[in-house]
Amino acid sequence: MPRALITGATAGIGRSFAVALARRGFDLILVARSTERLEALAHELAAQHHVATEPWTADLASDEGRESVAARVAALPPLDLLVNNAGFATTGKLHKIPIEPQLAMLRLHALAPMRLCAAALPRMVERGTGGIINVSSIAGFLFGPGNVNYSATKAFLTSFSLGLDTEVRNAGVRVQALCPGFTHTEIHDEMPHVKRQIPAWLWGRADHVVEASLRQLERHGPVICVPGLRNKILWRVLTLIPRGLRGTLAVRRRRAQGS
Ligand SMILES: NC(=O)c1ccc[n+]([C@@H]2O[C@H](COP(=O)([O-])OP(=O)(O)OC[C@H]3O[C@@H](n4cnc5c(N)ncnc54)[C@H](OP(=O)(O)O)[C@@H]3O)[C@@H](O)[C@H]2O)c1
Repeated sequence: MPRALITGATAGIGRSFAVALARRGFDLILVARSTERLEALAHELAAQHHVATEPWTADLASDEGRESVAARVAALPPLDLLVNNAGFATTGKLHKIPIEPQLAMLRLHALAPMRLCAAALPRMVERGTGGIINVSSIAGFLFGPGNVNYSATKAFLTSFSLGLDTEVRNAGVRVQALCPGFTHTEIHDEMPHVKRQIPAWLWGRADHVVEASLRQLERHGPVICVPGLRNKILWRVLTLIPRGLRGTLAVRRRRAQGS
């Protein structure tokens, strides 16, 4: 049986990865902070899809949580797929918001995926097969007031994935930077204004995001995966606008919205 480890498996995109991979016959290691939700999901997937599931409770924004998961990964037989998905979002200008969540975001979005890739890769490379999906964001191509740290951590993850691919592609390991647009999950639960401001047509479904990602990985597609036609167009347009101008346009948009 192939085996995958998914971080942030209890909700949203991570949970959709867990369901899609269980359907494909993967045994699963499910990582998140809430033990109760992890165990419920592990039981549900094992019963429905007859796969082996292991819940690992860990806070990947802490040094201890990240290092303990990395040590367990390094000690395991090789993984077939690593999905670095755990993440969260905040809003507010950097000088006006508490710093600790921003430090935690850097550790969770940048340090943890890098560390888990480094733990999983030696065995994947040795065996000459394996896959890594780093869940980044279309926000990594944007910058503007209100979530600069989120965008910057996602830009890191996309750039890191593109570079990593050049190191391991010839060894048979596939790397993907999955860059979804707005997706209905729990991440915006504390941000009702985001749900109000973003037009309905820009929102997608987590299961669609995951199917697009897995299909692209399975057919050895490009490293960057932007699911959905509207997001693909948005991404292409964004990347045509010079970087400096992207920030200016975002400030104007915010002013027009009065925020
Ligand atoms: N939804 C979107 O619009 C969107 C768009 C682009 C990119 N993304 C990216 O997609 C990924 C998944 O987000 P989502 O929208 O599916 O969010 P979500 O529904 O809020 O799920 C987040 C998952 O991450 C886990 N998690 C959060 N902090 C953690 C920590 N410190 N250690 C371990 N696990 C942690 C959560 O479980 P616990 O709380 O139990 O730990 C949960 O399983 C994120 O990287 C996000 O940046 C989302």
